[in-house]
Amino acid sequence: MTTEPVLGTIRAVEVVLPCIDLDPTVDFFVDRLGFRLDVIMPADDPAVALLSGHGLRIRLDRGATGDPGVLRLACDEPDAWDLQLLTAPNGTRFQLVDANPPLVIPESPPLFELTRDDGDIGGVGRAGMRYRDLLPKRQGGRFIASHILIPEAGPVPDYVHHHRVRFQMIYCAAGWVRVVYEDQGPAFVLQAGDCVLQPPGIRHRVLESSAGMEVVEIGCPAEHETTAEHVITLPTPDLRPDRLFEGQRFVRHTAANAVWEPWRLAGFESRDTGIGAGTDGLAAVRIVRRAEPAQERPLVESVHDGELLFWFLLAGTATLHTEGRPDEPLGKGAAVAVPSGTRHRLADASADLELLEVTLPATLEFTATRR
Ligand SMILES: [Fe+2]
Repeated sequence: MTTEPVLGTIRAVEVVLPCIDLDPTVDFFVDRLGFRLDVIMPADDPAVALLSGHGLRIRLDRGATGDPGVLRLACDEPDAWDLQLLTAPNGTRFQLVDANPPLVIPESPPLFELTRDDGDIGGVGRAGMRYRDLLPKRQGGRFIASHILIPEAGPVPDYVHHHRVRFQMIYCAAGWVRVVYEDQGPAFVLQAGDCVLQPPGIRHRVLESSAGMEVVEIGCPAEHETTAEHVITLPTPDLRPDRLFEGQRFVRHTAANAVWEPWRLAGFESRDTGIGAGTDGLAAVRIVRRAEPAQERPLVESVHDGELLFWFLLAGTATLHTEGRPDEPLGKGAAVAVPSGTRHRLADASADLELLEVTLPATLEFTATRR
């Protein structure tokens, strides 16, 4: 059994840096880096100086030993700095990094990816949720698609946070989850069949879920930052459904109110989630199912010219014919990304087939050839 050490009330935390030459090092931190000198002692022969600035407290100590350390300076224009500033007189080195680096979307050639649900949602991710990776090659780093399961009912140990993304959506595939979003009113329940677009930077929190809750989450780029929010609490008092977050507005699509329309292929119908409009054409998300009554289904091959064509089978079975590849039977939980320029055809759709389709951009140009 381990015992937590008892700590008193902490009033300040200092980074100790060994420093033989106190005066020039203090001058460096004050004059070059904008720190202020708080304490110096003893007066007759200073051995310790306390400095503070940029949210950091530093203790320069003539009696300390060891490496003088590395400090990262997040600044506006790191390339514009004089390289001589990179080492202080006491030997402390500095890494200059961009305080606001641009969001990098990795370039990648089109990639075919296919995964199936083998019944093992394994990896434990953030906030205790279990993740299955639907695109293990991550489309070269451009996209991440996850099948997320929360097995037990109850509160979800999440906190208010936001993501640095170009695109991110969540579709509830089973059970329900209660969520809350900045400026979008009180917390609400996302039921199976519902989905949301999480525009870049919107503060949000997952509150509680049913047992066996499943969602499919798709984001771009694959690796993105999650930042905890310490100031804003949710729900916020304002209701601003038209607020733009980096050009996108929050979208909540409710399956119960959905309108079904013919899909681009005969024999199917789809409901649009409104994400095409919410993202101003960046991405579209729709749910596709067999149309009733059954129509003649011509064998049509399609080629698209877009960045992403992603399908996740919510129910039923089908066969995917893809140019240059063996036929692939698809069952519930299968996920596929069909690259641009590749002839493909969805065949043998079962009567209960239902699939989630995500495309970037919202409107893909499809070239169809009848076989
Ligand atoms: Fe999140």
